[in-house]
Amino acid sequence: MKHQTIAVLDFGSQYTQVIARRIRECSVYSKIYHYKTSAKQLKKDRVAGIILSGGPESVLKKGSPRPDPKIFELGVPVLGICYGLQLISFMLGGKVEKSSEREYGHGQLKIKTKGSLFRGLPSRLQVWNSHGDRLAKLPGGFKTIASTENSDFAAIVSEKKRIYGIQFHPEVDHTEGGINILENFLRKICGCKADWSMADFVRDSIDWIRKTVGSDRVLLGLSGGVDSSVAAALIHKAVGKQLTCVFVDNGLLRLNERELVVDLYKRHFNMDVRVARSGAKFLKRLRGVSDPEKKRKIIGNTFVEVFQDSLKRIGHAKFLAQGTLYPDVIESVSIDGNPAATIKSHHNVGGLPKSMKFELLEPLRQLFKDEVRALGAELGLPKEVVWRQPFPGPGLGVRVMGEISKSKLDVLRKADAILHEEMMTSELYYKVWQSFCVFLPVKTVGVMGDERTYENVIAVRVVESKDAMTADWVRVPYEVLQRVSNRIINEVQGVNRVVYDISSKPPGTIEWE
Ligand code: XMP
Repeated sequence: MKHQTIAVLDFGSQYTQVIARRIRECSVYSKIYHYKTSAKQLKKDRVAGIILSGGPESVLKKGSPRPDPKIFELGVPVLGICYGLQLISFMLGGKVEKSSEREYGHGQLKIKTKGSLFRGLPSRLQVWNSHGDRLAKLPGGFKTIASTENSDFAAIVSEKKRIYGIQFHPEVDHTEGGINILENFLRKICGCKADWSMADFVRDSIDWIRKTVGSDRVLLGLSGGVDSSVAAALIHKAVGKQLTCVFVDNGLLRLNERELVVDLYKRHFNMDVRVARSGAKFLKRLRGVSDPEKKRKIIGNTFVEVFQDSLKRIGHAKFLAQGTLYPDVIESVSIDGNPAATIKSHHNVGGLPKSMKFELLEPLRQLFKDEVRALGAELGLPKEVVWRQPFPGPGLGVRVMGEISKSKLDVLRKADAILHEEMMTSELYYKVWQSFCVFLPVKTVGVMGDERTYENVIAVRVVESKDAMTADWVRVPYEVLQRVSNRIINEVQGVNRVVYDISSKPPGTIEWE
């Protein structure tokens, strides 16, 4: 089935992918196009509507990006957002001028005429603005349908031409009812049905991966985390045994982690997974090192070395796949103000030597984290993978304070497994951001039975967070903490004291090192 397509013309806004994401949330298919895409091409693609994104430029500046003027004559509804609105006015005979005050942040939108775009919304909305220019005169045939404190033309329309422009950003969370405005545009103005789903994304991605990869091989570093797992499952579905995954066991993993990964991907999904068992190498290099930054560097460098060796052993492959998500996409170097158009396909992967050239395959690079989870579920990955808590790259290496040793790691692994189990049984695991144990090489006195003990301390850290930038410690019920403490002290040899970390971030960090 061919889906109705909404074309998002990208003028370089940092929010272009967020617009595409909101459209997906409305179960409509969207495609991001270069802003120069011809009207002829859009007509050929039979797009149901066109959205002009925002952008960093000013329409008043010579050489700033412009769409093909014929897009306004296609008879297809157009919605211009921010820079998009200014383009509409500028190109259709209105007037845009530099504003004396830059409007940035919240503003109050007063809706005068609800029409199709604002149907079902209240007359006042808090909206998010970010622009320097403003409209001074409407183009012919347009009327204003909403205003803000700083602009009489915060939303404009030509109903005859079905062209809409809004000064604010409906796609960002800070705009009240923003998603409803976009949904009104899609459904009531463009006539799109809610017929696009994650299953369609899977099908389209599989087509794209097959076309891109052809008969070549793909390598992927599987960490067991959500992103690399979903990328592996998707690519495997597309090209099967042409995909080889490398899982580096650095000796700093949690209890039974290697076994779980092998079990799931190798046995259940029948993927070609090569395990690089290199714990001894990591531990040898970490011997005598207690500085956190040095530890991280050693772990990082050793990882690259082991990974490279594995790749060499596997032999030539054209592609290296990565589970890069949209928020990780940082290398948006901009030619003519259009970052999305200049995504590099040929470049070297961080840490790998120049002689190892790969083409990157990044099938998740348009998605946000929650969409990747939905995709993982669609591909049949279990909840434990899809909703797994974040785990730092250096693993338990940054959770054993100071110098690392196999015996300390073993103690930490056992304690951590108990915490994990209790978080699962109390149904807290999926509700918090992270829950983990930290090994403190501090000996304290205790008494067990009639015996005096002198053993180490385990700290328990459970935090809630939205994005790891800030975090707060979770008020875990006392009964759960009690069970965790009892079990760790009774079941893990070498620990006689458990403490609970009640520091927030900031000023603390989530990890201890
Ligand atoms: P902090 O400790 O800085 O951690 O508050 C924020 C989030 O990042 C994770 N983290 C890492 N993830 N490699 C990673 O992939 C790392 O080196 C690393 N260090 C910290 C941490 O678990 C938390 O979710």
